[in-house]
Amino acid sequence: MKTLIVANWKMNPQTAKEAKKLFDAVKKGAKNKNTDIVICPPFVYLPLLKGLPLGAQNIFWEEKGAFTGEICAAQLKDLKIKYVIIGHSERRKYFGETNEQINKKIKKALDRDINPIFCIGETLEENRAEKKSEVLERQITEGLHGVSKFEIQNSKLVIAYEPVWAIGTGQNCSVDETLKSMLLIRKIISNMYNRELADDMKMLYGGSVNSKNSAEYIKGGGVSGLLVGGASLDAQEFISIIKSI
Ligand code: 13P
Repeated sequence: MKTLIVANWKMNPQTAKEAKKLFDAVKKGAKNKNTDIVICPPFVYLPLLKGLPLGAQNIFWEEKGAFTGEICAAQLKDLKIKYVIIGHSERRKYFGETNEQINKKIKKALDRDINPIFCIGETLEENRAEKKSEVLERQITEGLHGVSKFEIQNSKLVIAYEPVWAIGTGQNCSVDETLKSMLLIRKIISNMYNRELADDMKMLYGGSVNSKNSAEYIKGGGVSGLLVGGASLDAQEFISIIKSI
């Protein structure tokens, strides 16, 4: 199975010119037959970038209509977008996204054959209070509530474990703790569906990934790929991550 490397550019860069320059540099340098690469730029750059698979950073659950500021599945489909990040901790924190809303977004994406990259992860306080298992279980069961085994098998739904305390802090989660979290997530999925589906599901790690730590996660972290934020904004650094796999 190929390793999936996803770039989450978040609200960067500031101009279309810079976005194209970064994208072209990545496209040119990022050749590794062992990896699949997905770039998730801000919505406004999606129609401008061609030649690597693209993902969106959000989706709205309604079909169309009076929802100012939102983007629907049909609009993403029209641009041939393959993936969408759903439930990122920054959306949960700054926009108050709930597990229930995330669930509606996941269902809409699945319904329209857009693969959700479903983000979960505990905060520092939850981690310190040893509530990680409880938090992940709630995020997964509520986020996937009513999603059938069949729908999951027929999609490429990806789970991204991103401990909130590791995002943008330089404090990446240790490979051992990542492995433990991956086993825990697979167990939760196995209890909800079955073992086979849990074993087959792609799972990413995200949080302060760089070219120095990337290979360790693939070797020992039990992950199928990485979700990269800050380091994906530097073409050379992102290419080095891809080459490290
Ligand atoms: P950083 O790689 O900047 O820590 O961000 C991770 C992330 O949030 C990716 O979605």
